[in-house]
Amino acid sequence: MRSPRPPKSRFARRFERPPAPAGTALPPPASHPTGRTEGYLLLRRPIVAPSPGISLPEGVTLVPLDAADAPLVHRLLKAAYASGFGTVPESVLAWWKLVTTDSEFDRNLATVARAGDEVIGFCLCWTSGFVKDLAVDARWRHRGIASALLANAIESLARRGCEEVALKVDIYNAPAQRLYRRFGFEP
Ligand SMILES: CC(C)(COP(=O)(O)OP(=O)(O)OC[C@H]1O[C@@H](n2cnc3c(N)ncnc32)[C@H](O)[C@@H]1OP(=O)(O)O)[C@@H](O)C(=O)NCCC(=O)NCCS
Repeated sequence: MRSPRPPKSRFARRFERPPAPAGTALPPPASHPTGRTEGYLLLRRPIVAPSPGISLPEGVTLVPLDAADAPLVHRLLKAAYASGFGTVPESVLAWWKLVTTDSEFDRNLATVARAGDEVIGFCLCWTSGFVKDLAVDARWRHRGIASALLANAIESLARRGCEEVALKVDIYNAPAQRLYRRFGFEP
């Protein structure tokens, strides 16, 4: 007798398309609940795929998001997404509420990179295994901070039992696409 199939993860169900009735065209791609998909690539990788070796610059630490850091993290996201490669609510309160009241929020999947008192990077994942935000202060780029945040996020998701990690990236966001491909993400 065949053993029963394991239940599908919430992540897998999110991206599932309804079956097309026989003889009809396929339905349009399902859009992710966190926003539009047009102009974005949806990339995924198995959680167990190897990550590149990472070392944080001296003095930089990764810590879980704290309410006291909210204004600085929000400011960082606004500046990083000014290029149009991401979106964030205009006010810090609206952003904080949106993030922390989401049913997929877990403070341990919201990580801040700090250098002393400065907030220099941020990564937020939803519990379904989706990287919602990844941003590094422009003055701190090209030092491996996004790579460290991403590797840390993948480890945390693996500990939660996620089998896959996914994200969306703007089709014109070449630096981010290079980063994700180094980590083995593919369309
Ligand atoms: C995309 C982004 C998060 C990358 O952040 P980052 O901290 O610069 O990323 P990393 O330092 O890990 O990698 C960037 C580059 O620096 C290189 N690098 C890493 N450590 C390095 C070091 N110690 N010395 C020299 N170069 C280094 C990497 O190899 C990589 O090279 P590449 O540009 O040839 O691919 C950042 O550009 C950003 O915040 N962009 C705006 C927001 C955004 O687009 N977010 C992604 C949304 S999907």
